[in-house]
Amino acid sequence: TDSDSVSSESDRLQVDAFGQSFDNPVGVAAGFDKNAELPIILGALGFGHVEVGGVTAVSQPGNVRPRMFRLVDDEALINRMGLNNDGADVIGERLSNRRHNIDHCGPIGVNIALSESTPIHEAPSDYQYTYKQIAAEADYVAVNVSCPNSEGMQELQQRDSLSRIMDALTTAGAETLLVKLAPELSDGAIEDVIDLVEIFDLDGVITTNTTTERPESLDSTEQIERGGLSGAPIEDQATKLVQFVAKRTDVPIIGVGGVSNAAGAYAKIRAGASLVQLYTGLVYQGPTLARDINTGLLELLEADGFDSVESAIGADL
Ligand SMILES: Cc1cc2nc3c(=O)[nH]c(=O)nc-3n(C[C@H](O)[C@H](O)[C@H](O)COP(=O)(O)O)c2cc1C
Repeated sequence: TDSDSVSSESDRLQVDAFGQSFDNPVGVAAGFDKNAELPIILGALGFGHVEVGGVTAVSQPGNVRPRMFRLVDDEALINRMGLNNDGADVIGERLSNRRHNIDHCGPIGVNIALSESTPIHEAPSDYQYTYKQIAAEADYVAVNVSCPNSEGMQELQQRDSLSRIMDALTTAGAETLLVKLAPELSDGAIEDVIDLVEIFDLDGVITTNTTTERPESLDSTEQIERGGLSGAPIEDQATKLVQFVAKRTDVPIIGVGGVSNAAGAYAKIRAGASLVQLYTGLVYQGPTLARDINTGLLELLEADGFDSVESAIGADL
């Protein structure tokens, strides 16, 4: 534009959240770079941040293949990967070795999850171990209590269980801590989590993970596969959840679920998300997606008279 008063494109996309500066609001959701090997490449593709992991205390192979299914007609995926990853020791080490290169990409979040071999009642110490191995290298830590592919893990979203985990992490000195939620939570259960966000002074909420539900709208035969559904069919539900959470807390929200274009990212931002993330969209739309969304966002902002992403956050609340 020819007006001096309008800030540059890069200023308009920039978002500050939980003490970090993000060049743009579009990030890669957990699960895509489970072992923290791709942050620089993903940064080069235009993503403003990457959430690596889920990382567990011990390395684990995940479930037997096939464990990921394309529902092409629905622009969706079903996965039951089972949290395959190299484990907290190796991933913590990998992140610290790369630290000097990591300056070339945006913030790196680390998603931490419960080890398959750990009984549910030992979850707090399991998360705490993982936290200690990766914390120094993480710009934020996302506590994943919403993976549908790990036996009993979603129960950890219940108030008492989550409270014990957060206690263990804050005792370990946790700084920037977010919690990632499942889409099936009842309103009451979400409100319980939001209470804990206040009590433990958490830094943000990520909504949402994949769903075990199967909307009637699905066409693909692969819908019968067991696992978590992601992509277009969960988009609207995820956006509504962003709005539900945003109405009840002031902490930044990362909106995830079915984002595959600028309009979808913009809808989540207007619903209250400071940042968005995607996984399934990248599978269907390909590697130009982050740039396409950011370019499109600038147009949508301008059309609505917003001078920046930050000024559009929560516009629909
Ligand atoms: C193959 C696959 C693996 C995933 N692994 C994780 C994971 O390890 N931890 C996590 O919190 N979410 C994981 N997710 C969920 C995504 O981070 C995201 O919340 C979900 O896919 C919804 O976003 P989308 O519709 O853009 O894919 C995974 C998703 C997929 C498709």
